Amino acid sequence: MAGGRDRVAYLLKQLQRASCMCPAHSHAYSQGIEHAALGKTDYAFEMAVSNIRYGEGVTKELGMDLQNLGVKNVCVMTDNNLCQLPPMKAVLDSLTKNGVNFQIYENVMVEPTDQSPESDFLDYVNAPIGKGKPVRVTLKPLIAVPTTAGTGSETTGVAIFDYKELKVKTGIASRAIKPFLGIIDPLHTLTMPERVTANSGFDVLCHALESYTALPYNQRSPCPSNPMNRPAYQGSNPISDIWAVHALQIVAKYLKRAIRNPEDQEARAGMHLASAFAGIGFGNAGVHLCHGMSYPISGLVKNYKAKDYNVDHSLVPHGLSVVLTSPAVFTFTAPMCPERHLEAAQIMGADISTAKTKDAGLILADTLRKFLFDMNVDDGLAALGYSKSDIPALVKGTLPQERVTKLSPRPQTEEELSALFEASMKLY
Ligand SMILES: [Fe+2]
Repeated sequence: MAGGRDRVAYLLKQLQRASCMCPAHSHAYSQGIEHAALGKTDYAFEMAVSNIRYGEGVTKELGMDLQNLGVKNVCVMTDNNLCQLPPMKAVLDSLTKNGVNFQIYENVMVEPTDQSPESDFLDYVNAPIGKGKPVRVTLKPLIAVPTTAGTGSETTGVAIFDYKELKVKTGIASRAIKPFLGIIDPLHTLTMPERVTANSGFDVLCHALESYTALPYNQRSPCPSNPMNRPAYQGSNPISDIWAVHALQIVAKYLKRAIRNPEDQEARAGMHLASAFAGIGFGNAGVHLCHGMSYPISGLVKNYKAKDYNVDHSLVPHGLSVVLTSPAVFTFTAPMCPERHLEAAQIMGADISTAKTKDAGLILADTLRKFLFDMNVDDGLAALGYSKSDIPALVKGTLPQERVTKLSPRPQTEEELSALFEASMKLY
């Protein structure tokens, strides 16, 4: 029974934390646990990052990049909304000025579904929902121009979609699909409405918190026998840590300002960079429970209409769906790496001078709740229309999200997932 085995590993780890941590003893003991209980763990990690270019107005260079690449035909993908806005105008101006041949596809859905792509792409979707096959072909160069400050997708090889049949979100995570170039132009964030700024900013917040507290890469198993099979999401690692902590510091400094004042260019530009910083971190370390639990929260949406999103269907924006469980999740994961949870709380403004390690989770959770309350965030899953009777379906939708749930520093049973959803019904 996998749950039982994880439980044993967890208990052994707790014992290990309570015992001698000197290198001579703890090393041998921890190796013993991992090999006996979890199988052989990885010993290496890899950083894969897109080329990125940052600067106010830098979108004007896009046409030259495409010329330099020698491309003959460019597909410009956007949505109906952005088509009318300055970011799209900047893109088209640059393409026209540089004589680039292009066609516009403007029907991209906000948070797309499995019906959006045409080919049988389940081969590449994460197992166990898809076949999780490695991408072996070279794809056409993709240049990403982010118009929100949240996903960090310009830096990562992760693409998420809504799988209608299962009513969950899942994705393809492969280094092969990371953009050839990310063009980060902070001018594009100035047209973001208030709630889009807030929700995309919460996504950055969770990317940073989850990647910093994820299972360390050298405790993840199995160890791949071929580097091609090492997952994009590898667990926390010393390089991703740097990016996550830095992103969190920027979020603490600028997110509230960026939400409150659309004309605060310094704050909005800061968040645009924070999104990329967090993307570089989590794109290699991964995320865990807030994201794993968010996919059914979005997929099972009832009648919730997100304010400021110009769409004609019910939608729980991604950043909102991840952040609502964050107080419960970090209370749950804190015992596995309390110092990191305390450090995160401190960066977010908590006074931890007299804090006890055992209270790390509660302190971070309280800090997050206060932050969300200040930012007028809905009061938990209940405010989105969910009730206790939805919890079994929410848990069922979380279980297949192993790509991320297995990166939680603390393994979780179905009962524990239920408790996490229940604790997230109301926040304040
Ligand atoms: Fe996210």
